[in-house]
Amino acid sequence: MIQQIAILGCGLIGSSWASFFASKGFRSKLYDIDTATCQRGTEQARENLHRLVELKSLPEEQLSDAISNLIPVHSLEELLGDCDYVQESVLEDYEIKAKLYRDMETFLPTDAIIASSSSGLLVSQMQQVLEYPQRSLIAHPFNPPHLIPLVELVPGKQTTVETLETVREFFLQLGKQPVLLKKEVPGHIANRLAAALWREALALLDDDVASLEDIDTALCTGPGLRWALMGQHLIYELGGGSGGYEKFIETIGCSFSSYWEDMQTWTQIPESAKKKAISGTTPLMEKRTREEWIAWRDEKLIKIQQVIEE
Ligand SMILES: NC(=O)c1ccc[n+]([C@@H]2O[C@H](COP(=O)([O-])OP(=O)(O)OC[C@H]3O[C@@H](n4cnc5c(N)ncnc54)[C@H](O)[C@@H]3O)[C@@H](O)[C@H]2O)c1
Repeated sequence: MIQQIAILGCGLIGSSWASFFASKGFRSKLYDIDTATCQRGTEQARENLHRLVELKSLPEEQLSDAISNLIPVHSLEELLGDCDYVQESVLEDYEIKAKLYRDMETFLPTDAIIASSSSGLLVSQMQQVLEYPQRSLIAHPFNPPHLIPLVELVPGKQTTVETLETVREFFLQLGKQPVLLKKEVPGHIANRLAAALWREALALLDDDVASLEDIDTALCTGPGLRWALMGQHLIYELGGGSGGYEKFIETIGCSFSSYWEDMQTWTQIPESAKKKAISGTTPLMEKRTREEWIAWRDEKLIKIQQVIEE
């Protein structure tokens, strides 16, 4: 049974995970190789909890218990000695993760689960260095994990069905939306979809088809609204009218071939696209500060989910 959580790496994702687990009543120790980041991450997790109360996503009477669930520690030994579940959120780099995984097993109980937040690495490669690889997998969140329900669960070659099922059950109990990958691929599901879309969003900008603001507006006021409710396959099933998905594929779907033929297929972001993208967000960042955008996003994320749950 999972009771004690270890948050390994307290940057953007680790601190958000910590607030999520703490808000669900789990004692969560936090550790980062950089002590100042561990303090900042713990502070951020506390702020997230206050914000959840403000947004009525966490009952006020649970706030002090949730805050006391956040326990910053100073060593791997303190972090791991009594833990049941590690949520690893260190830098996206095989070498850094591999060294850490080797060090971790010195202190970790042999039956504790190791879940990596990795956005796109292959877990089979990461688990090679483990003495007990069967208890490791990827549990990839979407930023910010304390607000977005999706968790992608990816087993490696050595992950047992029991580990996968335990983690799936755990996240279901906590109100998350786990999805299972049948086989590992770089980028899992959601980031591969995001990567395909992002390349085209950059290419439209680079080819001067529209401004960055209009490209983003086209996405979030059109397909983005539907995507909060249903995925691409169901959307196009409905898009085919009474003929369903088959009709859509055979009619409108066929015309997509000419779009695909016209699209970029590069695998490195061109310098010109990079420059236009970075300078293109300036007007947006003049409308609100980064903190104001994040607060705006988080408030709306909660409201959208409340509407969907209704
Ligand atoms: N940023 C995102 O949107 C996002 C979303 C989902 C998943 N992820 C994944 O989460 C992981 C972390 O990403 P992030 O954006 O939080 O990065 P980040 O740079 O904000 O945080 C990484 C933290 O890991 C710490 N760290 C590095 N080596 C360590 C070690 N040996 N021991 C302990 N701590 C160590 C660093 O000090 C840093 O604080 C990555 O695998 C990333 O792919 C990121």
